[in-house]
Amino acid sequence: MQPLFRRFVLLCVIAALGLLSLYHIAGWDSKLQPSRPSSSLPGRIKHSVKWKDVPVRYPVTSTIALPSGTPSAIPRIQHEFGIETDGNKQKRLKRLGAVKQVFLRSWMAYREHAWLQDEVSPVSGGFKNQFGGRAATLVDALDTMAIMGLDKEFGQALAALKQIDFTTTETSTVNVFETTIRYLGGLLSTYDLTGGKHSILLNKATELGDMLYVAFDTPHRLPITRWDWENGALSGSQEAPVSVLSAELGSLSLEFTRLSQLTGDDKYYDAVARVSNQFEKHQNSTSIPGLWPVRINLLAESFTVDRTFSFGGMSDSLYEYFPKQHMLLGGLVPQYRKLYVGAIEAAKRVLFFRPLTPDNRDILVSGTVRKNAADHFKLQPEAQHLACFAGGMVGIGAKIFDRPEDLDVARRLVDGCIWAYESMPSGIMPESSSVIPCHDPEDCEWSRQKWYDGVMDQRPLHSYRDDVEKIVEENNLAPGFTDITDRRFLLRPEAIESVFIMYRITGNTTLLDNAWEMFQAIIASTSTDISNSAIADVTDLEPELIDECESFWMAETLKYFYLIFSEPDVVSLDEWVFNTEAHPLRRPQ
Ligand SMILES: *[C@@H]1O[C@H](CO)[C@@H](O)[C@H](O)[C@H]1NC(C)=O
Ligand SMILES: *[C@@H]1O[C@H](CO)[C@@H](O)[C@H](O)[C@H]1NC(C)=O
Repeated sequence: MQPLFRRFVLLCVIAALGLLSLYHIAGWDSKLQPSRPSSSLPGRIKHSVKWKDVPVRYPVTSTIALPSGTPSAIPRIQHEFGIETDGNKQKRLKRLGAVKQVFLRSWMAYREHAWLQDEVSPVSGGFKNQFGGRAATLVDALDTMAIMGLDKEFGQALAALKQIDFTTTETSTVNVFETTIRYLGGLLSTYDLTGGKHSILLNKATELGDMLYVAFDTPHRLPITRWDWENGALSGSQEAPVSVLSAELGSLSLEFTRLSQLTGDDKYYDAVARVSNQFEKHQNSTSIPGLWPVRINLLAESFTVDRTFSFGGMSDSLYEYFPKQHMLLGGLVPQYRKLYVGAIEAAKRVLFFRPLTPDNRDILVSGTVRKNAADHFKLQPEAQHLACFAGGMVGIGAKIFDRPEDLDVARRLVDGCIWAYESMPSGIMPESSSVIPCHDPEDCEWSRQKWYDGVMDQRPLHSYRDDVEKIVEENNLAPGFTDITDRRFLLRPEAIESVFIMYRITGNTTLLDNAWEMFQAIIASTSTDISNSAIADVTDLEPELIDECESFWMAETLKYFYLIFSEPDVVSLDEWVFNTEAHPLRRPQ
């Protein structure tokens, strides 16, 4: 370093330290310890913001009101369960107890090592704040504790909620989607599940909703999905972004709708109804009519700049929210059926495919499709853990929209994920992998040769004879898999979510055993001294623990495992609708 430059750096460090101590003396820091000091430098808004008082830049000319009228009759989703045998009941209760124990252990770890932080680090015993430092795990896990009847733990968590200020946050950019599904969804669902008894839940939800509502304050009232909230609070200029992920745009509707229903203020519903209108307007003019691409240029309101389509990450819950919004609105808005049916018809044509499997299973995987410059579709035959939600969604859609032919599609999608779990040495599906699509689903007879050809197709630079067996061995590829593009398991819920939904729809008890196998495999590979951790490689029998436990472990994964082993009327799908973070909201009856 040049001496002058060195002195400059030293001065900067001293100045920074001075500012930092000033900031502590002035007591500007919030109750929650910031994880990254740099995110808490002076100049940031540290106090509560009265979001209701921030002047509206672009007022709506007329508010879209919640539909009124008597909810229409929506066909029943759940199977009519008969009387359970004693033996089945004993087995089920044993499994239920095991899930509850794992939840309690994870909760204790959070309470002891990461209280009021976003998440615990389950190997090192530290903590992490990646969702704004507003106790994400606590808020996300509240309704699970209510469902499990953990009254003491629930009471403690509820009391702590008073200390959390939802009108301000540690990060400069708010991820509107994550904040909505985790925090807003968690608060609203706990309010609903406890019968509206705890007004603090709705008050906090409204405070947060009023903050998020300002992200919609742009010329066409379309939201800024990664939002500079301080600029929002300080009345800076705002416009819709050039690139948004379709899932982040489309998965706000349930939470905002429920907030309007509970507060009687239509403005939140108005905000998301305008987004749905955009999806409707553009549904048939994208590169694959019926579907929307992963990325959308919201500023230009262009749905054609991107030509990639998938039910996997970045698009997933966009689709999931159409049938769910239909249910939450009591079937009174016909738009959501149209959006769903158009999408599912296209998905059955282009996204779902039958993979080659050693035992010729009649299953489906939901892949990714790109349209190239010559307007040809190219199917990328990937199996993403995130896309495993699709089986449950298609099952629910089959019931509520009376599409019985889709029930078998749902069953095959669920079985696709079960197959991916069963195929791995750890018994857990990887984050993403590649398989071999059978171009003619009727002609999908296994041969080792076809598998090897598929493996080599992924690697055009290798010469065949020498390499294929070595590649299979080095990559630990199970028969049928041609590549494992992301070997991690992040404690994700989507597979058990769909197994749970299919069980509630069909009453097929094989699914209980599938769920139990999954649960045991996950516990065997992810347990740490204090809790459970994401793992580096599901093809490893003793996978490395990567010291991460996102809030969805207790909010979603363990909740769905608990519910599948509960009595079928505990959070019935005919009375509740789950947001994409597994937070049940009450359906109109
Ligand atoms: C898209 O086109 C289909 C088939 O013509 C039609 O049934 C559907 O209503 C259209 N969807 C929208 C949102 O306009
Ligand atoms: C029961 O569920 C399993 C797992 O999804 C499936 O393979 C099987 O076909 C189902 N049985 C019936 C009768 O639907």
